[in-house]
Amino acid sequence: MTDKNRYIGIFDSGIGGLTVAGSIMRALPHENVIYFGDTAHLPYGTKSEKQIRSYCRKDVSFLNRYDLKALVIACNTADSVARETLEQEFDLPIYGVIEPASRKAARSTLNNRIGIMATSATVRSGAYEKMIRKYNPDAEVFSLACPLLVPLVENGRYKKDDIVVTTILREYIEQLTVHDIDTIVLGCTHYPLLYDAIRSIVPYITIISSSDAAAQTLKKALKEKNDLSHENGGIHKYFVSDDAEHFHENALVFIGEDLIGDVEQVNI
Ligand code: DGL
Repeated sequence: MTDKNRYIGIFDSGIGGLTVAGSIMRALPHENVIYFGDTAHLPYGTKSEKQIRSYCRKDVSFLNRYDLKALVIACNTADSVARETLEQEFDLPIYGVIEPASRKAARSTLNNRIGIMATSATVRSGAYEKMIRKYNPDAEVFSLACPLLVPLVENGRYKKDDIVVTTILREYIEQLTVHDIDTIVLGCTHYPLLYDAIRSIVPYITIISSSDAAAQTLKKALKEKNDLSHENGGIHKYFVSDDAEHFHENALVFIGEDLIGDVEQVNI
């Protein structure tokens, strides 16, 4: 395999990172991609920092068996808690979701008031606040843990005409709109599926998906390094730490049938 055709390794706590993988595969259709979902240990968003770091270390050690040109932390929780550890312990070019989404939000806001929806661990870490202020020191950031949303989406409840979905979302979003925000960051892999439902509740607010922002940043970085794959490529491998069949069935709503391939269960 030529250098440019080396793999992009992507990992997440489970299935949600497929929204990031899908955005990457659509933006970079010639790239070879390996996805690892740590389905045996999801969710990460409710776990302690120590536990999250320990899982992430194993996830990356698995992906690192392949010849990687880039590693993508496709999980907001992992990126906010374990990024530094992974950078210290692995000699890989590491990309994430927090930095691209923060940069986009910092530059999009007109009134410098930004809301973050994320898991409890991501909110606790303060990673989004820190990164947004790096790009826009005047920004005020209001973060909200939305623990009901991951289980909701994983149970197939994300549509905008679903009364349960809109009731829960309204309750969360009102806690952000009281701060007069003009921008919301979907700071969790599962939330892009809720985009239409959120859009229908706050049609006037800019909504930033960390998944799309991450794909654009990766594309730009590989282009700058002259490391984009132009030929062959497009191989997508999927690995999980728990039941592969269950993952495959549920993957379709996160990534679409055209991009999901065979899934293999591995012990890491
Ligand atoms: N992937 C996680 C995130 O983006 C959500 C699911 C979990 O809690 O593991 O924060």
